Amino acid sequence: MIDDLSKAILNSQSIAILTGAGISVNAGIPDFRGEQGIYTTGKYSEHVFDIDYFVEDPKRFYDFAREMYPIFESAQPTKAHKFIKELEKYAEVYVITQNIDLLHKKAGTKNVIYLHGCVKDSFCMNCGKQFSFDEMKTLIFKESVPHCDKCGGLIKPDIVFFGEPVKDFDKAAKWVSDADVFFSLGTSLEVYPANMLVDFAKGARVIVNKQLTRMDDEFDFVFHEDLDEFASKLESILKGGKE
Ligand code: OAD
Ligand code: ZN
Repeated sequence: MIDDLSKAILNSQSIAILTGAGISVNAGIPDFRGEQGIYTTGKYSEHVFDIDYFVEDPKRFYDFAREMYPIFESAQPTKAHKFIKELEKYAEVYVITQNIDLLHKKAGTKNVIYLHGCVKDSFCMNCGKQFSFDEMKTLIFKESVPHCDKCGGLIKPDIVFFGEPVKDFDKAAKWVSDADVFFSLGTSLEVYPANMLVDFAKGARVIVNKQLTRMDDEFDFVFHEDLDEFASKLESILKGGKE
């Protein structure tokens, strides 16, 4: 099966890749619904990323931020992130990530849509003043809920919370529908509308995820395995095929 996939990649001009939290687990960033996910273990609830809850009690999110921002800062791209960068040697690669970490960026991937935003910037909800990741990293340890130094407003990260529209969905859908190969990597495909992107894929559909997902039936190639192991295998087959 992996040999057929390798051929499809070598024959492709454009590859679209949807990634989820599973791709960053080997970098030390926990996922949500995986075996050790932060929702699975009950460590945090979905309310952490709910806009109504945020406005009512922002400390809930900022407790998560105090734990996770230092990890986001030190985390390095995994084998799978680096493999995605390598794929640019074979085709145009378009990554649509649900992840708020910056690991695709650190790996050097050219085209990335952050469907759920990311931790790079935060904004005052009142006056719009922008705060960088570095500023926030300091502020969250000074105040339990950081406020704007200009107007006292609540600061919100540029992350898409439940109840807010995702970013660049139409562009993402076009990337997916134009691609010869579509990958879904390390996402449970439980969250709307990211999971709808699968339906836009007209080319070969590939899913790699440790666990089953409800959408596995919609894929041509299904791999239930660790993403880094999968990436290493596919990489060596591709290299063999190119020589
Ligand atoms: P999930 O936690 O729902 O799914 C991650 C999937 O990755 C799980 O099915 C795991 O089995 C799988 N996985 C974990 N480690 C893996 C590995 N090493 N190799 C292969 N697969 C692995 O994460 P998402 O689908 O990204 O929203 O979740 C979607 C959204 O829900 C997130 O963006 C987040 C959350 O609420 C916001 O932050 C706004
Ligand atoms: Zn302000």
